[in-house]
Amino acid sequence: MPRAAAIIRAGGLVAFPTETVYGLGANAFDAPAVARIFEAKGRPTFDPLIVHIADRADLAHLFTEGALADPRIKLLADAFWPGALTIVAAARPEVPGLVRAGLETVGVRLPRHETALALIRAAGTPIAAPSANRFGRLSPTTADHVLEQLDGRIDAVLLGEATEIGVESSVVALDADGPVRLLRHGGIPLEDLAHVLANHGGIVAAAPTVQPGVPMQAPGMTESHYAPMVPLLLVTTAFPAGVTECALLAPDRATLTHLEGLASAAGANVHASVALSETLDPVAAAAHLFERLHELEAALIRRAVPAARIIAAPYPEGGLGSAIADRLRRAAATPQ
Ligand code: TXA
Ligand code: MG
Repeated sequence: MPRAAAIIRAGGLVAFPTETVYGLGANAFDAPAVARIFEAKGRPTFDPLIVHIADRADLAHLFTEGALADPRIKLLADAFWPGALTIVAAARPEVPGLVRAGLETVGVRLPRHETALALIRAAGTPIAAPSANRFGRLSPTTADHVLEQLDGRIDAVLLGEATEIGVESSVVALDADGPVRLLRHGGIPLEDLAHVLANHGGIVAAAPTVQPGVPMQAPGMTESHYAPMVPLLLVTTAFPAGVTECALLAPDRATLTHLEGLASAAGANVHASVALSETLDPVAAAAHLFERLHELEAALIRRAVPAARIIAAPYPEGGLGSAIADRLRRAAATPQ
């Protein structure tokens, strides 16, 4: 830990586990260090980073006094921090423009993972960290995933307890007026946010896609994201025509059996098949979602199966299921 903290203080990059996914961290107030994150990930600079803190008092260095006067910050922080919620609000001018992607706001999260908290405390500075994957690729939930994509491009990876939630934080934006906006489904279900905000103007889900000419509200909302290297198709009823080589992914065992039946009727070769949980269980499913996608991707790539597809059944909406459904939709929207 002292070495990792020294790397952060010296302007280097350290990947570290959080309770959602692995992050790729740099000192949030060191603009050249932050620039290295974008370089290592191949991430476009219009996509802002989340700043991670270990102590709520650090909000004073990140949000403006005006933003901090919003009672909903305390409400949300009391309910969900430490945890999988990122709060976006007006940024102090000292927050480097690159962290904010030029926006006037900054996203902040106080994680609950011990390794993440220890790193932030030892470094003595808030840490800007996107998920530790190459831009647009699957998010990492193990140190191996991080090394597969970023070995040689970063200075260190910290090992730690599993990323137990398995999907990224929920992102909410607080504006000077109007209800809180949910920018990204994630580890904290919309229903839980709505419950806490019920007497404080509620919460609305922001427009899900990017519209031409309209500035992006949350670049993580671009349709194609979290993409496996093998194209993923979401099927609802019929098995997609022309697919002869595939791996299957379903929310539960019964749906997987149904998918296997469809594949077999279509004459497709199934190289791997996975149920996210035995019976429908969004918490267990989220915890292993990216890991299973990494495995299916690896199975098809290792065997060099030509024209292979991952065929997935959509995940039912509701609770943490909405974050899983969202990640699968984005993985499927990849132009290949
Ligand atoms: O769980 C997580 O949030 C993980 C761990 C490492 O904390 N981090 C993560 O970061 O998922 P990343 O970079 O993959 O996603 C950050 C997303 C951006 O793409 C954007 O959607 C939203 O957070 N975001 C961050 N700052 C924002 C801002 N100022 N305004 C709007 N959206 C923002
Ligand atoms: Mg990401």
